[in-house]
Amino acid sequence: MPSLPSIFKACAVCFSLLSTTINGLASSFDPPIMGWSSWNTYRVNIREELIKKQADAMISQGLKDAGYSFINIDDGFFGYRDDDGKLHTHPERFPGGLKSLSGYIHSLGLKAGIYSDAGSNTCGSIWDKDLNGIGVGLYGYEKEDADLFFNEWKFDFIKIDYCGAGQELSLEERKRYTEIRDAIDKTVGRPVYLNICRWAFPGTWAKNIAQSWRISEDISPTWNSVKHIIEKNLYLAAYAKQGHYNDMDMLEIGRGLKREEEEVHFGLWCIMSSPLLIGCDLTTIPEASLNLLKNKELIALNQDPLGLQAYVVSHKNGGYILVKDVEKERSNTRAVAFYNPSDTTCSLYLDLKDIELGGKVEVKDLLRGRFEGRAINSLTYTLAPRSVKIIKLKAEKRLEPVKYEAEWAYLPEYSDLGTKKKQVHYAYSAEASGKRVIRFVGGSSENYAEWDNVYSEKGGKYELTISYLPEAQRKLEVDVNGTKVTGLKLETFGGKGIATVTAHVNLKAGKNIIKMGSSRYWAPDLDAFTLKPLRE
Ligand code: GAL
Repeated sequence: MPSLPSIFKACAVCFSLLSTTINGLASSFDPPIMGWSSWNTYRVNIREELIKKQADAMISQGLKDAGYSFINIDDGFFGYRDDDGKLHTHPERFPGGLKSLSGYIHSLGLKAGIYSDAGSNTCGSIWDKDLNGIGVGLYGYEKEDADLFFNEWKFDFIKIDYCGAGQELSLEERKRYTEIRDAIDKTVGRPVYLNICRWAFPGTWAKNIAQSWRISEDISPTWNSVKHIIEKNLYLAAYAKQGHYNDMDMLEIGRGLKREEEEVHFGLWCIMSSPLLIGCDLTTIPEASLNLLKNKELIALNQDPLGLQAYVVSHKNGGYILVKDVEKERSNTRAVAFYNPSDTTCSLYLDLKDIELGGKVEVKDLLRGRFEGRAINSLTYTLAPRSVKIIKLKAEKRLEPVKYEAEWAYLPEYSDLGTKKKQVHYAYSAEASGKRVIRFVGGSSENYAEWDNVYSEKGGKYELTISYLPEAQRKLEVDVNGTKVTGLKLETFGGKGIATVTAHVNLKAGKNIIKMGSSRYWAPDLDAFTLKPLRE
């Protein structure tokens, strides 16, 4: 369960410093938050009694015991701001105010979450015609509202929306969210979880401000919506680290999706380490949905101490295979999802070497909670339309990785806000090995791609082979642990499919950092690289 470590007593923004030892774990970070939020089912039509009932149901349905701890009040509680600038709750919906309500939530051993907008008006005032949402946002009242929400009302979490700030005031996201975080930190003497709700990956700055950030438009209880959000998150694993997560939005489990669609929804939210905020009416949730939400093994993947998001290791036949380390980095245990988003049956083959596992491999199906025997060399699953198979593998050996896809790289300049014309991003390419290349890397020394997890068992000399799409006037600078790789000669004519360039590099034993970019010209679109040890 996410509990805030006491070393944060004085400073909320220090979440990212939590890389040292806690409870004896080598690396321990706050996992994604788990709880319930009012928006999906009730929109702005919320009231005190309703929230209390949901909090009660969290306990009586066994969800608190399963790890869910937040009760988040979304848009709809606003009343008005008075002449002194003080915010008031809705007189009919929350006559008792929010202080006693958050007290009630806390008295159940749960945590309380609240909502606001970075601008003046809430999204509800724009889209749900909730006139009480006018003039109640944080704009101009950052410290006053922080004092009210967290010191007076004692909330633990805030989701900060962007309708009023974006379409109405045209504020710049990074500056605006930084101002708000600073105001909260200066006003509140304890950690507050912050969620950025800007409906697209906002930029790598978000990790300095928030514990999670939305990466998509609003979810709806439809298969297309679930599938679309998964697609948006497939190549963002490099940004979910150390207590900071990509938020795939609130769950639509228990709201009419088919059983296998719900399994995909929950399974992928879990393995991709998204916050898990239930969005249905907890008092009437169907039994099968409730059991799915309480699946221990899937929750463990989500709350894993490494805090990693699974990345795509293979994309073939319309399906995806995703993998992540669990429990301990580079151990023999890994979690894998075989995912078929299509409307036809799909067969997915995995060479176990490609996920660095060797020898006999024990397979456990996490959705069904049963061991399925042992595999050697490979695994193949035939998946029904719109389905997922999530397994935990325990191998005899963990092998040294050979290949690194471009789409696994961390791009410090990546953003999905659509503000730049030539924005570095992960682009589709039919020729590329994982069907993805990095496009528009280079042009400045800040716009590079980084793989910080290039692993060598013993260290030594390696042959580095980079595959890319050749084009005129491209340059590539490669750096291994801070040392420039020289003598890279690129092919300069386009239209030839994938080209490769090779160099010899030195790796140290353990983790290495490789960066690729070009400080003045564009680099070519990058596909992947391999590392082969050279025997001396
Ligand atoms: C949207 C947000 C939703 C919900 C809604 C409230 O912008 O993405 O999750 O909070 O506003 O009006």
